[in-house]
Amino acid sequence: MQNIKAYVEEHKDRFINELIELLKIPSISADSAYKNDVIKTAQAVKQSLLDAGCDMVEICETPGYPIVYGEKIVDSNLPTVLVYGHYDVQPPDPLNLWNSPPFEPVIKKTDKHPDGAIYARGACDDKGQMYMHVKALEFMTSTDQLPCNVKFMIEGEEEVGSASLSWFVERNQQKLANDVILISDTGMIGKDIPSITTGLRGLSYVEVEVTGPNRDLHSGLYGGAVANPINVLTKMIASLHDENNHITIPGFYDKVEELTKDERAEMAKAPFSLEDYKESLEISDVYGEKGYTTNERNSIRPTLDVNGIWGGYTGEGAKTVIASKAYAKISMRLVPNQDWKEITELFKKHFESIAPEAVKVEVKPHHGGQGYVTPIDSIGYQAASKAYEESFGKKPIPQRSGGSIPIVSLFEKELKSKTILMGFGLDSDAIHSPNEHYGIWNYLKGIETIPLFYKYFTELTQ
Ligand code: BES
Ligand code: MN
Ligand code: MN
Repeated sequence: MQNIKAYVEEHKDRFINELIELLKIPSISADSAYKNDVIKTAQAVKQSLLDAGCDMVEICETPGYPIVYGEKIVDSNLPTVLVYGHYDVQPPDPLNLWNSPPFEPVIKKTDKHPDGAIYARGACDDKGQMYMHVKALEFMTSTDQLPCNVKFMIEGEEEVGSASLSWFVERNQQKLANDVILISDTGMIGKDIPSITTGLRGLSYVEVEVTGPNRDLHSGLYGGAVANPINVLTKMIASLHDENNHITIPGFYDKVEELTKDERAEMAKAPFSLEDYKESLEISDVYGEKGYTTNERNSIRPTLDVNGIWGGYTGEGAKTVIASKAYAKISMRLVPNQDWKEITELFKKHFESIAPEAVKVEVKPHHGGQGYVTPIDSIGYQAASKAYEESFGKKPIPQRSGGSIPIVSLFEKELKSKTILMGFGLDSDAIHSPNEHYGIWNYLKGIETIPLFYKYFTELTQ
């Protein structure tokens, strides 16, 4: 595969412009006001797959947003790579913190991205990373170098829990049969430190509601005599961690796999500067579970975080009031072996048990998913490793990530194949935040690396 670099060089302006067009469509899956845009994006992805050389592309209807399925079958005796990605994006809020509108992509140079980065919601998560696979396919088909079969499955509900994808996968095992699943929806340590993601955390997401009196009350007339749901809720939340930042829910750690000394020592070899980390976040110190390093805290350890909390008066000025209700959204990141449904139950039981008599508590489970770890001795990992080695000139480091792609464990269960996570984003790319961006260098490097994966995977499989 001599000419992938030259091909990228020749077509890079078009690759960038095509991605920019895709980023202009606000495919926000969480907000039904954008329904037409989400569907429009599915159609644009379909067209791009046809243009890239798929033999067959269809928009598969589901109870929710459609799944774009495409394939190019070269020979049924050859291995099949199934590419997964998502065309939906997170809501862009808070809008006032964006330096340019989230759906009007602009290219700007930064310290981390001297070649420029595309600023737009979804630039990195996941339109930019998904589209690298479309362009890699274009290269392989147009130069007659596709060494195996390929299937694409691009969904529109990843950011809201992938409910329709589970439905689709369970009903289409035959159609989706493959030898390896390939995903670019994670990150890497740095441009000069390529890494392959070998683990994802699971997730349990819940919402809690604490109700005190039946109506909002004057805080002078009633204050001190009835439970204030906001006081109670914050106290309950505070009690979920002890002084060592361990989570206090009984049974929470029962199934957590403790890594061996050697495994932890191996992890600690990954380049990491605590000083740079603190500086980039403008914090004087890190904070987390006692006995673990920052990299352990954000990958191999489970966590509990409040994602949002509200209630009472938050408008201008002051209003003296005891609110009737207080709310919070809480996420728990889980590690492999912890079952998200079991953890959700443990949370619910514990949270209800610590509520004082004076309030009512309701715990509403949202979505969740299992964690995932992938071995590094599989053919898929070896092929990915060789691909990075060739395009980066360096062997990649295996790295467990703290993020979640819950559908990956379902793929293993239903399709019986391993997933390889070839992510090209950087932690500083601000995914889910204002000013999300994706480096042009990363985008083009991804397009360059992916065809090499196909080549080595096919070679190693034969
Ligand atoms: N692509 C991310 C997950 C991710 C990002 C994993 C970076 C590793 C590194 C994905 O789109 C995402 O945001 N997942 C959600 C979970 C989902 C159920 C909403 C998450 O991790 O919060
Ligand atoms: Mn994503
Ligand atoms: Mn995301």
